[in-house]
Amino acid sequence: MRVYVHIPFCESKCSYCAFASFVNPQEETKYFDALISEIALRSTGEEVESVYFGGGTPSCIDPKNLERVLEKIKQGFKLSPKAEITIELNPNSTTKQKLDFYKRIGINRLSFGVQSLNDKVLQFLGRRHTKKQALFAITEAKKCGFENISADLLLGVKGGRPKHDAARLLRAKVKHISAYMLQIEEGTKLKKLASKGCKKIASEDESAKIYQKLAQFLQKKGLKRYEISNFAFPGYQSSHNIAYWTGEKYLGFGLGAHSYDGKNERSANATNFEDYYTGKVTSERLSQTERDEEIIMLGLRCEYGFDKEKLSFDIEKLPSYKNFIKQKILFSCGNIVTLNPDYYAASNAVILQLLKD
Ligand SMILES: C[S@@+](CC[C@H](N)C(=O)[O-])C[C@H]1O[C@@H](n2cnc3c(N)ncnc32)[C@H](O)[C@@H]1O
Ligand code: SF4
Repeated sequence: MRVYVHIPFCESKCSYCAFASFVNPQEETKYFDALISEIALRSTGEEVESVYFGGGTPSCIDPKNLERVLEKIKQGFKLSPKAEITIELNPNSTTKQKLDFYKRIGINRLSFGVQSLNDKVLQFLGRRHTKKQALFAITEAKKCGFENISADLLLGVKGGRPKHDAARLLRAKVKHISAYMLQIEEGTKLKKLASKGCKKIASEDESAKIYQKLAQFLQKKGLKRYEISNFAFPGYQSSHNIAYWTGEKYLGFGLGAHSYDGKNERSANATNFEDYYTGKVTSERLSQTERDEEIIMLGLRCEYGFDKEKLSFDIEKLPSYKNFIKQKILFSCGNIVTLNPDYYAASNAVILQLLKD
């Protein structure tokens, strides 16, 4: 079983980001009290194989609050001694003191929001850090003894050189890179700029080409693409991410956090503080068709594929499936169906066609 903990605080809002995160430091104490109560209430004593502190920006809050959360998880669950414990960090709010603290409380995987190593691009994205600060934070993390370090890169801003950035990050001994195509989200500053025809945003075609080049480069360097956006050296894949894609059970604590029972029940906490404090939760029971769609969608985005036997229908009868197999766009081995990695960039089209049939 997996545990996700949402930290909904940021020091400022980046131009592209629509995540549930707020610039509201005065709320921190009350929020953590509520979070601790939620964990106590929903504890099941089950074995936990990974914990993920995501956000928002977990590095911008008092690390003692993260320690309290981990202690509560240890009280209410059986935290595996081998558990992967990840924290998302903004280089801007990462300090040596905090890194030492994280190490001491058992965090063993760091995920830095680097986005770019071009200061102009960083500025356009509304990031608070520079290239120098990002590389410094990673170096400090190495010095503090962290090995399992990941960096996020954003693709799709003109002037950015993601391949060049990735090469620099690999020299800094990063073991995992998440490369996300910049999404233009409703309600963001970027959306306004895009609707005014901003020239700095790359077209989908341009971004797809940049992604392909980056993917080739990373694979040549020995990283494995284990999901469309995720590349890792052997042994450094995130087991927490893999659990999401392979349909394992997870519990999400905190504002806006999602939970899934591993079968057909999903739930989500409220996305504003007031409703979260009252314990408002929305749940949905997935229909068999929704479940099938999810199995296909998640499976084809990663190297693990999906198990035909888990579907409620016979996929082999679909004309598009037969066609994709014939064209070697899909591979079938025993019960497992995977997408040919050469078609990862077109995965959405493949998935849509299968679901349409
Ligand atoms: C919670 S943030 C990471 C930690 C920290 N908040 C930070 O930004 O440094 C998770 C990641 O989601 C990605 N992300 C956020 N908004 C996105 C968008 N609109 N399109 C693509 N990726 C996005 C960014 O790469 C970001 O690093
Ligand atoms: S990208 Fe990260 S730092 Fe920026 S607003 Fe979103 S969660 Fe906060």
